[in-house]
Amino acid sequence: MKKRVAILISGGGSNMVSLVDAMQSGKIDAKPVLVLSNNADAGGIAKARDKGVATEVVDHRLYNGDRVAFEIALHNTITKYNPDILCLAGFMRVLTAGFIKKWEGKMLNIHPSLLPKYTGLHTHQRAIDASDSKAGCSVHIVTAKLDDGPLLRQAEVPILTGDTAETLAARVLIEEHKLYPAALEAFVDKY
Ligand code: GRF
Repeated sequence: MKKRVAILISGGGSNMVSLVDAMQSGKIDAKPVLVLSNNADAGGIAKARDKGVATEVVDHRLYNGDRVAFEIALHNTITKYNPDILCLAGFMRVLTAGFIKKWEGKMLNIHPSLLPKYTGLHTHQRAIDASDSKAGCSVHIVTAKLDDGPLLRQAEVPILTGDTAETLAARVLIEEHKLYPAALEAFVDKY
C-alpha cells in the first residue's frame, strides 16, 4: 500500500509542488492525499488543486490566538484524509508539543539553513551577517523544539560575494526542491 502524505503550507508552495510532482510521477512510492494551508490566500492551494490534490484551509486567525483550538481543527481536518506522513513545507505556524506528539516520528519539515545553525526566521540574512561561507537547507523529523529533531538530509550552497538574502534564498530554494523529495523518498522506503 502506498503511504499517504499530507502537506502543510502557508504560502507559494513551491516545495509542496516538488513533493507532489515526485509522488505523482512515481519517483516516491507515496500518494499526496491533502494539501492544507492555514492561510486562505496561499498560492499553493490553487497549484495543488490544479494537480488534482485535495485541499483544505484551516485559518488560524479564526481562533484568535487560541493555538490549541486551532490545532484541534487542524488535526480533525487532517485525519479525515487518513495520512501516514505529514510534510511541513513552508508552514509558518509554530506547533505545540501536544500536536507534535500526535504525529511523532511521522512529521517532516524543511528549513532553509544548515541546522543546527539559524533556527527560526531570517536564516539567509543571518548567515550573510555572520560571514559564513556556506548556507543551505535541512530536512528533519519534527520534535517539540522548533527546527530541531533528527536530521534526515542537508544540502549546502556557497555564499557568494555580493549575495543578498534574496539571491541566497533563491539559490537555496533550488536545492530545497531536490532535497525534500529525496528525503521523503528515503523516509518512505524505510517507513
Ligand atoms: C522555504 O524556503 C522553506 O524552507 C521555508 O519557507 C519557504 C517556503 O517556500 N520554511 P515555498 O512555499 O515552498 O515556496
